[in-house]
Amino acid sequence: MRVAMIGTGYVGLVSGACFADFGHDVVCVDKDAGKIAALKRGEIPIYEPGLDELVKINVSAGRLSFTTSLPESVAEADAVFIAVGTPSRRGDGHADLSFVHAAAREIAAAIGKFTVVVTKSTVPVGTGDAVERILREAKPGIDAPVVSNPEFLREGAAIRDFKHPDRIVIGTSDERARKVMGEVYRPLHLNASPILYTDRRTAELTKYAANSFLATKVTFINEIADLAEKVGANVQDVARGIGLDNRIGMKFLHAGPGFGGSCFPKDTMALIKTAQDNESPVRIIETVVAVNDQRKRAMARKVANAFGGNLRGKAVAVLGVTFKPNTDDMRDAPSIPLITALQDMGAEIRVYDPVGMDQARRVFENVTFCDCPYECAKASHALVIVTEWEQFRALDMKALSATMATPIIVDLRNIYSPDDVTKNGLLYCGVGRPQPAAY
Ligand SMILES: NC(=O)c1ccc[n+]([C@@H]2O[C@H](COP(=O)([O-])OP(=O)(O)OC[C@H]3O[C@@H](n4cnc5c(N)ncnc54)[C@H](O)[C@@H]3O)[C@@H](O)[C@H]2O)c1
Repeated sequence: MRVAMIGTGYVGLVSGACFADFGHDVVCVDKDAGKIAALKRGEIPIYEPGLDELVKINVSAGRLSFTTSLPESVAEADAVFIAVGTPSRRGDGHADLSFVHAAAREIAAAIGKFTVVVTKSTVPVGTGDAVERILREAKPGIDAPVVSNPEFLREGAAIRDFKHPDRIVIGTSDERARKVMGEVYRPLHLNASPILYTDRRTAELTKYAANSFLATKVTFINEIADLAEKVGANVQDVARGIGLDNRIGMKFLHAGPGFGGSCFPKDTMALIKTAQDNESPVRIIETVVAVNDQRKRAMARKVANAFGGNLRGKAVAVLGVTFKPNTDDMRDAPSIPLITALQDMGAEIRVYDPVGMDQARRVFENVTFCDCPYECAKASHALVIVTEWEQFRALDMKALSATMATPIIVDLRNIYSPDDVTKNGLLYCGVGRPQPAAY
């Protein structure tokens, strides 16, 4: 199959590289000339484990190439995937579809034969209809069925997720399009990954329902964590106690600083807007978003509480700024409102992240950037673990305690057992576990 991938970001680049690895002939397109130039030089513009190797192998094999020219890539393609961004629209929280619509107009102009157009971007119900309309208006008589194929990969484990998905959802009622999509995903189907064929609107809604459900699960356990702190229970044991029930499942039951990242915040908002427009409000998701929003500043109060409420003049070391480990992505990361709130309370902030420092420098002001966790902790009054990078899981507590101004660990990811920390003379505050008295 000849595949054109429009948008070479976290999803487009991974999808393009994986499709090429399946043996397809893939051209990845992006408007960002800097990104394409870097890729042509063999540099990967994002941090995603294993991606550099996968890109290198497939470029060398002649199956993967990069261009800024959409018309060239689309002209010969059997399937054109739209993988451009769909951020929250400023002001109202609807998904901003301007990139999708613009891409559709450009694709229409370039198509000259039967071509399947696939929205891989996360788009609200009805977007496929709109894309189809745009194609027809731009080029009457165009032979280009529009398919919804939402992507479920997770940053940080994107290649594995793409190659071993729990399921592939393909929304189309067009038999020819279904054949092409079956061919594109054939290697996965042979690996026994289930392909779920639905109508287009169902596929579009499925993606939002999935992300909103996961966001709900996270928010649920976060509220249980707050209650656990109040009643002297341990949320990790509660999570295990409920998660071992197969009907519930263990995943997404880790209490923490609230969900963030490039998808959950914007996708929950977009679903709320779609539901309101259709006079079928999703009140659970509305509450999830409200609860999650309040949590970010509550986490800053948790840090302050370790000092009896006053952070003025205190140095706070923040470990981890990306929205999760194994990515450099800081879009809507919980670290951003947390650090802002800590600064509002008068704290001086020191920051360290294994791969997110370049992004962090663009996002934060009046922050000291450090080279390692120990330098970050030096002379600080509290160390706050915000992102659970592997390298934060076995810190030398004695060494930290020796250099910190006051030995306080606020572990917003519960990666330490309280005993392991306190036996080294530090005060430990986790999430959803009995809280110590202020320092
Ligand atoms: N990031 C994830 O983990 C993830 C997971 C599943 C689904 N998604 C969805 O996938 C979509 C893409 O997300 P992302 O994180 O890859 O975004 P991204 O911002 O990393 O990448 C989008 C790219 O599209 C390019 N672009 C925009 N308009 C273009 C055009 N007309 N022609 C060519 N290139 C164009 C941009 O320059 C950018 O490089 C979104 O809808 C997102 O919700 C993301």
